Amino acid sequence: MPKEQLEQIGRTIRDARNEKGLSQEELSEMAGIDRAQLSRIEKGAVLGVSYDTIAKIFAALGMNLIPQKGELRMDKLHPFVKWAGGKTQLLDAILSHMPKSFGRYYEPFVGGGALLLRIQPETFSINDMNDELLSVYRCLCDEELFSRFKDELLRHEGNHSEEYYYQIRSLDKEPGFAELPIWVHAGRMVYLNKACFNGLYRVNAKGYFNVPSGKKKSVNCFDRENLQALHEYFMGAQPTITQGDFYDAVRNAQPGDFVYFDPPYDTWEDKDSFTSYSKDEFGKEAQARLAACFRELSDRGVLVMLSNHNTKYINELYAGFRINVVPAMRMINSKADGRGAVEEVLVTNYE
Ligand SMILES: C[S@@+](CC[C@H](N)C(=O)[O-])C[C@H]1O[C@@H](n2cnc3c(N)ncnc32)[C@H](O)[C@@H]1O
Repeated sequence: MPKEQLEQIGRTIRDARNEKGLSQEELSEMAGIDRAQLSRIEKGAVLGVSYDTIAKIFAALGMNLIPQKGELRMDKLHPFVKWAGGKTQLLDAILSHMPKSFGRYYEPFVGGGALLLRIQPETFSINDMNDELLSVYRCLCDEELFSRFKDELLRHEGNHSEEYYYQIRSLDKEPGFAELPIWVHAGRMVYLNKACFNGLYRVNAKGYFNVPSGKKKSVNCFDRENLQALHEYFMGAQPTITQGDFYDAVRNAQPGDFVYFDPPYDTWEDKDSFTSYSKDEFGKEAQARLAACFRELSDRGVLVMLSNHNTKYINELYAGFRINVVPAMRMINSKADGRGAVEEVLVTNYE
């Protein structure tokens, strides 16, 4: 959305507030938001402010002219990696099933973060099992780490060749790999994702990255504008980033917070599905553990949404919750018959 339009939203709010004789303190209290935040919005600084916050202000002013969801961002951010199970194509369906308002945003299976980057909450908690992936998010949150990470990406782009790819890929077999600086992990992660076959992240039983080269002549590791905008967003949000199992990541969620679960897919009864993001597979038992966690959060008054394949097993696990079926396309699968139209579900514990 162009800057002028953002400023227009800010002016509309300020003028309506003045017309009603309300101070910023009064309006922020009526809308249930922070006064400093209202002041920023009135100045046209909408970046990093969620749609729901704007909607709350409009509602408090009794205005029904609410801008469309997805139109409020100055920068359209997108994932820095291609990620198996990435939700870019399902975003419209997911947005239409999101709660109208919520407290803190949690994404315990963040992957490439397609939904997070679309809704851009002011701050949030993200988690994943994959520490290599998280090293990139961590570099986005700090000036020094970000600059070193970008240098790494430029170095990889400049050195790229078939041989170089395999050299970087095999770094994880060397002693001391875990102790390398975080920006080296982050740069390697993004480079391998861009240079490998089909943008897959897959490790073998020993935990070594084993995707073959994509045989590209040259590799563009990053979209300059997008990466800079991601950095600015993460610097402002200073999110909580954790590595580990989903269960621990949502332990502190409070009533009214929103948790979006996007786990590795449940496998189809008759097709192969991609579930090997890490050396620990996410099988039936893990899906059941997740459903128990969903129920536990729901009982605590947390707003919860889950996406998964529309399998019989998932329908059984989430019986009693709202199960919305949505059509989707699968893109990442090593076997051609694993691509094509499939049905997914969005399960919610709210209307
Ligand atoms: C379907 S992907 C998420 C995709 C993401 N929503 C996106 O838009 O790219 C599932 C993610 O769960 C992570 N994962 C696997 N097992 C996990 C676990 N037990 N706890 C937390 N994360 C896990 C994987 O590393 C992977 O990034």
